[in-house]
Order: sequence, then structure tokens, then C-alpha cells
Amino acid sequence: MKILILYYSRTGNTEKMAKAVAEGAKAAGKIQVDLNYFVEAEDLDGYGAILVGAPTYHHDVPIDIKMLFEEAAARNINLKGKPGAAFGSFGWSGEAPKFVLEIMKNKFEMNIADAPLLSRYTPDQKTLDQCRALGKRLAESLIR
Ligand SMILES: Cc1cc2nc3c(=O)[nH]c(=O)nc-3n(C[C@H](O)[C@H](O)[C@H](O)COP(=O)(O)O)c2cc1C
Repeated sequence: MKILILYYSRTGNTEKMAKAVAEGAKAAGKIQVDLNYFVEAEDLDGYGAILVGAPTYHHDVPIDIKMLFEEAAARNINLKGKPGAAFGSFGWSGEAPKFVLEIMKNKFEMNIADAPLLSRYTPDQKTLDQCRALGKRLAESLIR
């Protein structure tokens, strides 16, 4: 069983969140945790759960993440029923994680249980704890 934490980050804020999510997932044990900047669309279906870290730039999802979903859709990659979650840093509007969840749910029919996890600029300790808890919860859902 393995879990993917895929993220984009230009100034490191979403990266801090992604690392905390990965720590939480590792703490669940028994699960391979891949923390990546890039993944091939064809590799997505090898993961039991997919968590995406998307900072908001220009009221949108970073292009790298959109391209991955485009590619997965074009190749008919089946992600139906897989647990998914999204998180990200933002400055003032923070739409990107919400849009990611909409794509996961509406296009790929993934299983979305959590609201987007947001951090205004640099994540504080409380937010990092929430990131760890999110990673742990999704990893544990694969073990059960
Ligand atoms: C050019 C630019 C555009 C941005 N556009 C938005 C935006 O539309 N909405 C928002 O909430 N934050 C916006 N931000 C703020 C970033 O989301 C914020 O700096 C965030 O911490 C970046 O995360 P990262 O360090 O993971 O790249 C923008 C920042 C820059 C530099």
C-alpha cells in the first residue's frame, strides 16, 4: 500500500504543509509514503490515496497540477473511490485546494471526506498539526 503526497510550492509554504502531511502518514506505519513534486499520470492508479498540495496563484490551481489531471483524464486513469484530500497555502482568496477537491470528486469520482486544509502564508504549529492529522487519517484509512 502506498500513499501519494503531490505538491507544488514556489516559496516553500505549501511544501512545509506537504512535509507535515507526509510525517503524519508515516506515523501510521505500514504504508509507503511518496512525497513528490512530479508524478506521471499513469502512476496515479498505483496509489491507495492521493493528497494534493496546491497554493493559490492568480485565483487558480498551479498549472503543473492541472496538467496532471488533464493527462490523467486523457488517459482514462481510473481513480474512482480512492480517498483524496487537498491542502495549500494562500494569501487572500485560497481557491486552489477547493478546486482540486472538485476535480477529484466530480471528474474522477474520488472519495473526499475532508474540507480543504488552508494556511494563510507560512503554516503555524496548529496548521502543521492539522496537516499531520490529515496525513495520518488517510494513511490509516488504507490500513483498515
Ligand atoms: C504572483 C502571485 C499571485 C498570487 N495570487 C494569489 C491569489 O489569487 N489568491 C491567494 O489567496 N493568494 C495568492 N497569492 C499568495 C500565495 O498563495 C501565497 O504567497 C502562498 O503562501 C504561496 O504558497 P507557496 O509558498 O507554497 O508557493 C499570490 C502570490 C503571488 C506571488
